[in-house]
Amino acid sequence: MGLLELLNIRSKRPEGRVEGVEKVTGSGKYAAEYEVKNMCYAVLVNSTVPSGKIQSISVDKAKEVEGVIDIITHLHKPSVPGMATEEKIKEAKFGLPIFHTDKIFFKGQPVAMVIAETLEDATFAASLVEAEYQKDSFAVDFDSEKETVALKAEGKERGNFDSWQNLPFTVDQQYNIKADVHNPMEMHATIAHWTGNDTLRLYDKNQGVNNVQKTFAKLFALPEKNIEVFSEFVGGGFGSGLRVWPHVLASVMGAKQVGRPVKLMLTRPQMFAATGYRPASWQRIKLASDPSGNLSGILHQAKNETSVYENFNDGITRVTRLIYKFPNLKTEAVNVPLNLSTPTWMRGPGDCTGVFALESAIDELSYQLKMDPVALRLKNISLEKHPDSNLPWSTHFLDECINKGAKMIGWNARKSTPATVIEGDWYIGYGMAVGMWNAGRAEAKAAIIMSKDGSLIVQTAMTDIGTGTGTGMQNIAHEITGISKNKINIELGNSALPPAPSQGGSTGLSSVSGAVYDASNQLKQKLAEYASLVNGSFKGAALENILLSDKSISLKNNSTVSVSYEELFEKNNLAEIRLEVASKPGSEREKFAFCSSAAHFCKVRVNKRTGKVKIEKLAVVADGGKIINSQAAANQMSGAAVGGIGMTLMEENQIDAKLGTLIGNDLAGYHFAVNADAPIIEVDFIHKPDPNINPSGAKGLGEVGIIGTAPAIANAIYNAIGIRMRDLPITPDKILMALSHK
Ligand code: MOS
Repeated sequence: MGLLELLNIRSKRPEGRVEGVEKVTGSGKYAAEYEVKNMCYAVLVNSTVPSGKIQSISVDKAKEVEGVIDIITHLHKPSVPGMATEEKIKEAKFGLPIFHTDKIFFKGQPVAMVIAETLEDATFAASLVEAEYQKDSFAVDFDSEKETVALKAEGKERGNFDSWQNLPFTVDQQYNIKADVHNPMEMHATIAHWTGNDTLRLYDKNQGVNNVQKTFAKLFALPEKNIEVFSEFVGGGFGSGLRVWPHVLASVMGAKQVGRPVKLMLTRPQMFAATGYRPASWQRIKLASDPSGNLSGILHQAKNETSVYENFNDGITRVTRLIYKFPNLKTEAVNVPLNLSTPTWMRGPGDCTGVFALESAIDELSYQLKMDPVALRLKNISLEKHPDSNLPWSTHFLDECINKGAKMIGWNARKSTPATVIEGDWYIGYGMAVGMWNAGRAEAKAAIIMSKDGSLIVQTAMTDIGTGTGTGMQNIAHEITGISKNKINIELGNSALPPAPSQGGSTGLSSVSGAVYDASNQLKQKLAEYASLVNGSFKGAALENILLSDKSISLKNNSTVSVSYEELFEKNNLAEIRLEVASKPGSEREKFAFCSSAAHFCKVRVNKRTGKVKIEKLAVVADGGKIINSQAAANQMSGAAVGGIGMTLMEENQIDAKLGTLIGNDLAGYHFAVNADAPIIEVDFIHKPDPNINPSGAKGLGEVGIIGTAPAIANAIYNAIGIRMRDLPITPDKILMALSHK
């Protein structure tokens, strides 16, 4: 497609993604792409030891490089009021106190930052910074370190643990998952610009501009309004942008130090140790049922890695409390501190990991019982109420997801005896799993602005990391007002816009949609009020009776009355109409529990000579309440499932345990699923609005797309080869090893 055609498309504003053309043509700016006058460039210098103390750090050689402006170290830095004392550092809960300590917690920890006129100058000079360390002993091997920490109860125990310990149908197994790294396409980057002594502007890659704003207001003891944060386009996040990471503070310190705007963009290898990852985990599940498949009890134990300077709990056992009617339940967990950077939430955090073990064990039980895994699940899922809180679900259609998914995959073709379908070198198998997620919602604000020509702008500070939030907002405004989509513009990702929560935890649209919904309705009502000044028939018009077109307002029950926006604006002496609305959860949260859910069905081929697993078919059906935009929602689901394929078959953050070094920390060494690894994912929805969650009826979808993927694939592999794979990723070598022992 030529540029002219693209421009043409742009001017026509086709239906679909509101940011689609900007993202595809590159005209939409990512954080690192803004041009700021007088900007200079920062490059981080990383520690070369995994544990110890900086003994000395020499910047003399680096300073001689032409173009170097300054070099920040823990001995030479601007003041950060929120990190002035040990106590304040603790209070700030910022994580790594970057440039505020001589302690080394992990290899790759920033120890210095060179600021120079060009990226090249800064990069070269950074290579000349010399640090000497006092080296301490360290631990990075999760498998061995996990043995040194003791499990603790997590959450309330249900029933009686001893009552089900000796039932004949019992599964008791252990599961291991390697650390996964988010790897969003857009690199993490910040341009920090002190526009005055106490006013800061940030162009930053993140999933919540208000969160960044609040963090820096605290760190620099400034009013929030003094901090502006722009994240207007975000090229993926998957959770890596939910925190303010140390490098963002580094760039702000740099800009303060040199009195100029500073750009800091992490390299891909740096991102592996600077912006979080899904922690490696170990789990044990013991569960049992009676002979007819009624689940009696479960013990779920989980350990996940964390750093030595922060305690990150991934919440792995949470999902076990959500899905099934276990009368007896006990969950235990602990974090395992290692000399690595801190992990964080990664798509379907906790639940993704927990469900792999839980749904693998349920599948294993189904074979023991000689019961169809679909039937076993339908018998035991808790459809009426949240098993922990006992609150009735507002809406919950996991049974419908399961039934629909079974049809889509052709479940009838599955053979219940494993390893019985073979075509040439390929074993063929079917598997399924379910996933759930607590459907959250937080207070969000949105504004709607109408101009004389009838065009609308809908605004919120929320970012759109690629999920389709902006498109969903446009859809809602269009559905309610009736004004054409091409006259509805969306503005996002700017802290000066009406405040909103971070986009995460599948709460983006579920939070902001209510505000857009209410604002759109209030606009209709307001327009009728203004119109009544021109034509009395509009006085006290009921909302349902108000009809908007692109040019005018009229009444549904009286087609003869109509007032053009032009006249309405003129007679009322208006430049624009602006309404800002807040929408937040209320007492419905005391009456109901809320969840999203999905069922994943998979058909795999496993090659007996190469160990390759080929996903032949993957069908996903989700209950996400009202689906605001089917295309964007289906994209969310299939993108998540592709992420799940990576998690299951290839993703692994490899570490050299002897040196404490990440060894696969780039896109050559770290494999994730690409087009060739994924079939066209078949996606469908239940399409039933949740009447209680928010005015729009939409529940979240981001997480449930990935949660059940891994166990569905692993269960299909079992059905194909008759060997249970309990450690992720299931790479070809593991399959071949298992087959050779068969
Ligand atoms: Mo997601 S882990 O809530 O960005």
